[in-house]
Amino acid sequence: MKVLVQKNYEELSKKAAEIIKAQLAEKPDSVFGLATGGTPGGTYEEIIRMYKAGEVDFSRATAFNLDEYYPIKKTSDQSYYYFMQKNLFDHVNFAKTFIPNGEAADAATECAAYDEKIAAHGGIDLQILGIGGNGHIGFNEPGDEFIAATHHTPLDESTIKANARFFADVSEVPRHSLTMGIGTIMQAKKIILLASGAGKADIIQKTVRGAITPQVPASVLQLHPNVTIIADTEAGKLV
Ligand code: GLP
Repeated sequence: MKVLVQKNYEELSKKAAEIIKAQLAEKPDSVFGLATGGTPGGTYEEIIRMYKAGEVDFSRATAFNLDEYYPIKKTSDQSYYYFMQKNLFDHVNFAKTFIPNGEAADAATECAAYDEKIAAHGGIDLQILGIGGNGHIGFNEPGDEFIAATHHTPLDESTIKANARFFADVSEVPRHSLTMGIGTIMQAKKIILLASGAGKADIIQKTVRGAITPQVPASVLQLHPNVTIIADTEAGKLV
C-alpha cells in the first residue's frame, strides 16, 4: 500500500485527477470505478477543468459507480445517480456510465446483473474510493465477514448519522443501499482511496497499519497489490 500525503485538499484532488489522466493516456478505453461522498468532489472539479481544457477525453471510457441508496428515485437530489450527473457526467464525455439502480424492483437481480456488467466490460482498471469514518468502502459496513459480490445491505447507524448532513432530516436518510462488494472492489486492477480531514486520521491509520478485519472493511486493501491512499496532511497525520 502506498500512502501519498498531500498538503491540503486541493493538492489531494489534483493528485487524484492526475492519476485519472495518466490512466486515460495509458488506456483510452479504461473502465473506471467511481465514488460519491464529499471527498471526491474536488477531484471531479479538476477533471472537468481538464476536460474543458482539452487535456482528457473520456469518449472511449466507461464508468461504474460503487454504490447507491436503496430504494431511492433517480430524480431525488440525494441519489448518487443525481450526484454523479450533476458533479461529473453532465460535464465530461464518458462513452458509458453505470450506477446501481436504486429504483430496481428486485435488489438481488440488480446486484447480480451489475457484477455481470462489470465483468462483461473487462473489469475495472482504476477504482476511486472514499472511506467512511467507520472504515466502510462503498457501503460495505463493518461486520463479521467480508461480502464479495455486489449486494443489498442495511446502512450502519453511524453512516446514517454521518450522511444526515446531506438531508433535511436524519429520518430521510435511506436505511439500505446497493453496493459493490469487497470482491468486486478487490478485482480492480488499481485502486486509489481518498481521505481528507482530521476526522479520517484514525481510520486511515487502522486501514494502513491495523489488523485486516471485516470490522474495518478498508483494511482488506492491504491485500491488494496496487493501492494508493491519497490523504491530506490532516487525514494522513497518524500514518
Ligand atoms: C458515503 C459513501 C462512500 C464514501 C463515504 C465517505 O456514505 N457510500 O462511498 O466513501 O461515505 O464520504 P465522505 O467522502 O463524504 O466522507
